[in-house]
Amino acid sequence: MAVKSQEERSIANEDDILDVRNSVKRVTALLNFSLVNQTKIISAASELARNTLEHGKGGKSIIQLVTEPERIGIRLIFEDTGPGIPDLARALEDGYSTGRGMGLGLGGAKRLMDDFDIESKENEGTRVTVTKWTEKN
Ligand SMILES: Nc1ncnc2c1ncn2[C@@H]1O[C@H](COP(=O)(O)OP(=O)(O)O)[C@@H](O)[C@H]1O
Ligand SMILES: [Mg+2]
Repeated sequence: MAVKSQEERSIANEDDILDVRNSVKRVTALLNFSLVNQTKIISAASELARNTLEHGKGGKSIIQLVTEPERIGIRLIFEDTGPGIPDLARALEDGYSTGRGMGLGLGGAKRLMDDFDIESKENEGTRVTVTKWTEKN
């Protein structure tokens, strides 16, 4: 099966979150991530997509294949033009939620992935970028 090096979609409803999950699943399987790691990446993608929808008022996701000499990875970018996050450190704490959530999504995604980056500006929006790596095969 062919893999495009980048897949972008808007996140505007629950079905879009399912689509993100399915795309991430397909790409992680193609890259031969272990089943445990596939599950971790899908979980992180779900949490971040849900944040984009619920906290960010919708936005988009970008799934990228990234290649380096010794390793290959999947990079997920979630961005929105929502309210932004005033206190990033606090938002990353387990149990902190401004909604009705468990407050485990951001910290969880950080733990489940290898690289984690978040940029956010109040009243402008949020972009979360996460990557997980595996050996080339
Ligand atoms: N894309 C986003 N835009 C605005 N705020 C966000 C975004 N993502 C996360 N947040 C803020 O960070 C908090 C923690 O996020 P998270 O750990 O996923 O917990 P939960 O989603 O259960 O509230 C959220 O309650 C929200 O205040
Ligand atoms: Mg969340």
